[in-house]
Amino acid sequence: MNLCRRLWKYLLVSVILYATVFLNLDRIRQYSNESSAIQITEPLTYETRNKIYVAQFKDQNHTYQFLTVPKKPCTNNTKLQITILSTAGNFEIRQAIRDTWANPNNSKHVNNDVRISFIVSAAQNQFLNYSLQKEIEVFDDLIVTNLYESYELLILKVHAILNYKQNFCESADFQLKIDDDMAVYMDGLFDALSDKKQASVDGISGIIWKNSPPVREKKHRWYVPMTLYSQKFFPPYIDGPIYLIGKNAIPRMLEEAKNYSQWIIEDVFWTGIIAKALRIRQINWSNHLLRYVIELIPSRLKCLKGKPSIYAVHNMKGPKMIHDGYQKITGVKC
Ligand SMILES: *[C@@H]1O[C@H](CO)[C@@H](O)[C@H](O)[C@H]1NC(C)=O
Ligand SMILES: *[C@@H]1O[C@H](CO)[C@@H](O)[C@H](O)[C@H]1NC(C)=O
Ligand SMILES: *[C@@H]1O[C@H](CO)[C@@H](O)[C@H](O)[C@H]1NC(C)=O
Ligand SMILES: *[C@@H]1O[C@H](CO)[C@@H](O)[C@H](O)[C@H]1NC(C)=O
Ligand SMILES: *[C@@H]1O[C@H](CO)[C@@H](O)[C@H](O)[C@H]1NC(C)=O
Ligand SMILES: *[C@@H]1O[C@H](CO)[C@@H](O)[C@H](O)[C@H]1NC(C)=O
Repeated sequence: MNLCRRLWKYLLVSVILYATVFLNLDRIRQYSNESSAIQITEPLTYETRNKIYVAQFKDQNHTYQFLTVPKKPCTNNTKLQITILSTAGNFEIRQAIRDTWANPNNSKHVNNDVRISFIVSAAQNQFLNYSLQKEIEVFDDLIVTNLYESYELLILKVHAILNYKQNFCESADFQLKIDDDMAVYMDGLFDALSDKKQASVDGISGIIWKNSPPVREKKHRWYVPMTLYSQKFFPPYIDGPIYLIGKNAIPRMLEEAKNYSQWIIEDVFWTGIIAKALRIRQINWSNHLLRYVIELIPSRLKCLKGKPSIYAVHNMKGPKMIHDGYQKITGVKC
């Protein structure tokens, strides 16, 4: 009797074991099929994978790589390269941008003399990785770095943007650095590039902040120790969510950064501290950029020389706001 029970137990255990292994084998097989599909894009990005870049500062160095870059490169015809700071999981936001202001159907410049891509850090898990790889195959508009994604390290992400411009799109006259919570009137912004009062290949354009004091509270996100910067006010700097940098300024900025310790506040560092040391000209776009949704009102959405005067609006939280903001800034009747 006892023996019989034991035999049953063994039989049951073996059946469960067999079923588990069998199911897993199936899954493993499916998984390796999927991952071989992922590998397809690898040979095309092979050369870029090997190259290691260094973000060099006075007090520390960071190495990074571009794991993926768009296969369709910049051409000699590219005048403006736009790099949108995004994060791996923001799929719907990127799609809203592709459907609106980065859509070639809505602008004669996109994919012609304007090249647009997103910069994200590599995915932290298998699911995100798989989705991102699919997105890369379909849209070919992602730059993926192996930098760690965090607010504190945004300064490195901007280093990667400038370095990417320098190494993959050197001939373009301008680089736009822009966050993924903005809507843009593409053709208005493009026309500004040929206006000497609004853009310079030696300068930086955007909203200029003057007389901003550093935060001295230790726990604050923007805390600046006296040892890093002791003056009462920051030098004038350009608001981080959107700024345009001229091509001649970029190699100089990358070089100059080596003489300074690494900051957390990305815009003050690149467009203030570094720009001041290099005497880079700052151009005020305050009349052309909106910072909040509540500014999307007729008194702010004006016309200038027969065209809408606003180039971009910030703080578009989510895909719907990007669509709405885009309709509003481009829909001004002039
Ligand atoms: C950073 O790298 C440069 C060039 O290799 C080197 O001269 C410098 O000492 C490094 N700095 C630090 C803080 O490690
Ligand atoms: C682009 O310009 C560079 C430098 O002027 C030149 O060497 C290269 O051949 C050009 N490429 C094309 C495709 O015209
Ligand atoms: C542009 O318009 C064409 C024709 O209507 C359409 O097939 C295509 O999907 C559109 N492209 C984008 C990016 O929306
Ligand atoms: C996905 O993972 C592979 C293998 O680790 C890696 O080579 C690739 O860069 C990753 N892709 C993204 C978009 O994170
Ligand atoms: C930056 O460092 C380099 C090399 O050490 C030096 O030649 C240059 O003068 C420095 N620039 C400034 C503004 O300190
Ligand atoms: C930028 O332009 C705006 C609007 O004309 C003006 O109010 C602001 O003072 C200017 N800022 C700087 C730093 O010149």
